Amino acid sequence: MQRHVENFNSCNYGDAKYWDARYIKEAGAFDWYQRYSSLRPFFLKFIPFSSRILMVGCGNAVLSEDMVKDGYEDIVNTDISSVAIEMMKKKYKDIPQLKYMTMDVRDMSFFQDDSFDSVVDKGTLDSLMCGTDAPLSAAQMLGEVSRLIKAGGIYILITYGDPTVRVPYLNRHGYNWKITLYIIPRPGFVKPDGSSSSSESFLEPVPITENGKLPAGFVLEDPESHYIYVCQKMGEGDPAVHL
Ligand SMILES: C[S@@+](CC[C@H](N)C(=O)[O-])C[C@H]1O[C@@H](n2cnc3c(N)ncnc32)[C@H](O)[C@@H]1O
Repeated sequence: MQRHVENFNSCNYGDAKYWDARYIKEAGAFDWYQRYSSLRPFFLKFIPFSSRILMVGCGNAVLSEDMVKDGYEDIVNTDISSVAIEMMKKKYKDIPQLKYMTMDVRDMSFFQDDSFDSVVDKGTLDSLMCGTDAPLSAAQMLGEVSRLIKAGGIYILITYGDPTVRVPYLNRHGYNWKITLYIIPRPGFVKPDGSSSSSESFLEPVPITENGKLPAGFVLEDPESHYIYVCQKMGEGDPAVHL
């Protein structure tokens, strides 16, 4: 689960050639950060089974397959790596609920505005943030995500980035996203006293302060926790959202 995550400061992570080479070398399925089993409570809460879902930067993860096994009906998976996409197309050719397309998340002009109910991103914004021109790439990507989500729809971002480094990108007036934060430990995390975490406590949202920070005195159970930002796109008639 943690394969090469420790190297996430590599500046290659925004580069298609890097990912193509990596997927040729490491062809076996791999899910970054978390598997569907840990994310399932959040998905079931925020994404109805009938949603049209866009999975950006799908890589060769099993996440979408597990979602379909659970009842999700329509997942369009995209990635900048044509190697990953061709592998996945072949692997899932008999599963009509899964579609695969090579696409740069910074330019998704192939799709019309409001094409999706939900967009799921596990580790893809993180990749762009590790590439060259990171702020520009992140703004391009999130602008496209915002454009593609219907009013009332959801962008779920699963990331290692805490609110100080992610909220400034998510909290743009143009997006009008209502942001709810959850924090979950890495899979298999064991507390210093040897006990494991109780999963129920992670289902409670963690407040984000007006400055996009965690509340004063908030202590992370796992210092290398993963953050789940649930961004709901408010409609034009809804009041503007500010943190
Ligand atoms: C950290 S991996 C995560 C893969 C998968 N989502 C998972 O959870 O296992 C990041 C993925 O983003 C893809 N990626 C990087 N830059 C991209 C871009 N500009 N457009 C689309 N995908 C991109 C990479 O090819 C890679 O598959």
